[in-house]
Amino acid sequence: MKEIVIETKIRACQMDELTPEEQELVVIAKSQTKNSYCPYSKFHVGAAAKLDNGIIIRGANQENAAYPSGLCAERSALFAAGANYPEIPVNTLAIACYTDGHFTENPGSPCGSCRQVMLETEHRYGKPMKVILYGEKEIYVFESAAALLPVGFFSEDLEG
Ligand code: THU
Repeated sequence: MKEIVIETKIRACQMDELTPEEQELVVIAKSQTKNSYCPYSKFHVGAAAKLDNGIIIRGANQENAAYPSGLCAERSALFAAGANYPEIPVNTLAIACYTDGHFTENPGSPCGSCRQVMLETEHRYGKPMKVILYGEKEIYVFESAAALLPVGFFSEDLEG
């Protein structure tokens, strides 16, 4: 038996410690929470994905009376990026959450399905995608989506 220890590096910082480009992306993710359609959870999530060509794709969670038919903000942005700019890598993804009249104190934590989609996004382009999770108290920066999902499932795993 051997033990495998996995370490994840998170940069915890404040808004003024981000680059101007990262700050802009966070501002857009925050503003995108206004486009959330969340009559059921009342949990507004906004996402902004910056592509390598500088274009910013916006996302927001979209719920449905048939609950599982809804989609998270991160995936709405990443799928829109793939659908409109399939050849362009996603450079950075920013996420913000708003509920009860304020942005969450702690950085919004992406669900497992979104982490899996983030992983595939960076894997398909063969380069790391930075992930910025906004919180009022603190912001988390991950240099790569892989840091959010260790032991992930990749296309190669389908080959057995
Ligand atoms: N949600 C997201 O948009 N992203 C996540 O990673 C976590 C959850 C949404 C889904 C649902 O509309 C609401 O937040 C409550 O779960």
